Amino acid sequence: MTDVANEPAGYTRTQILLHWAIAALVVLQLVIGEDIKPAYRALSRGTEPAAADMFNANVHVYAGLAVLVLAIWRLALRLQRGIPVAPSEERVLLKRIAAATHSLLYLFIFGMPITGALAWFLNLDAMGEIHELAKPVIIVVVTLHAAAALWQHFYLKSDVLVRMLRPAARRMS
Ligand code: HEM
Ligand code: HEM
Repeated sequence: MTDVANEPAGYTRTQILLHWAIAALVVLQLVIGEDIKPAYRALSRGTEPAAADMFNANVHVYAGLAVLVLAIWRLALRLQRGIPVAPSEERVLLKRIAAATHSLLYLFIFGMPITGALAWFLNLDAMGEIHELAKPVIIVVVTLHAAAALWQHFYLKSDVLVRMLRPAARRMS
């Protein structure tokens, strides 16, 4: 495999750490998402939220904003360095599905923090609605994405999962 710009042999350690840190934070956000609602409702009504509700809300807000920061870093690395190409034996349709899924995942890791922040800081309820509606869609897409990674590894026996776990060997450039 070549190592020209935008076609490296694998992901770097940073790209891999960013992938798993974002994945862990997104799963956390999906699990604790409902916990921001009591404080959000109270603030929308103009009342003071209970301290515990405000704490829960802050966890969701800051973990979510961390996803946005990491996502910007990750996209910058991807644009600058590129990502490894799909396995050469993979069928075109499968490559397209993988690329489309990855684009959707990028849309979520940018779109969720942005819609959430617009709802929370600017009280834009419509953004809160979109934010909530996205939840089941994300669960489906992430499940398909994870299932595809495991299928690649155990059934197709490609290196796709391993390259998201182990960095490519250090190169001269
Ligand atoms: C919420 C959780 C997740 C998000 C947001 C996410 C996002 C992404 C994105 C955007 C890519 C495209 C590569 C890039 O441009 O950096 C990717 C690649 C990948 N993800 Fe995830 N991912 C998540 C969870 C998982 C899980 C649970 C697994 C495994 C079970 C997994 C395995 C992989 C693998 C193996 C690749 C590499 C694909 C390739 O090199 O062609 N991801 N992920
Ligand atoms: C990757 C990042 C994020 C994910 C995956 C996520 C996920 C969720 C989930 C699952 C819910 C509950 C939806 C429901 O019960 O139907 C929720 C609610 C909410 N989140 Fe997030 N969130 C993220 C980032 C953020 C950020 C950064 C903020 C604010 C700065 C935020 C503000 C809110 C608000 C205000 C609600 C309540 C919306 C309403 O009740 O209308 N979220 N989020």
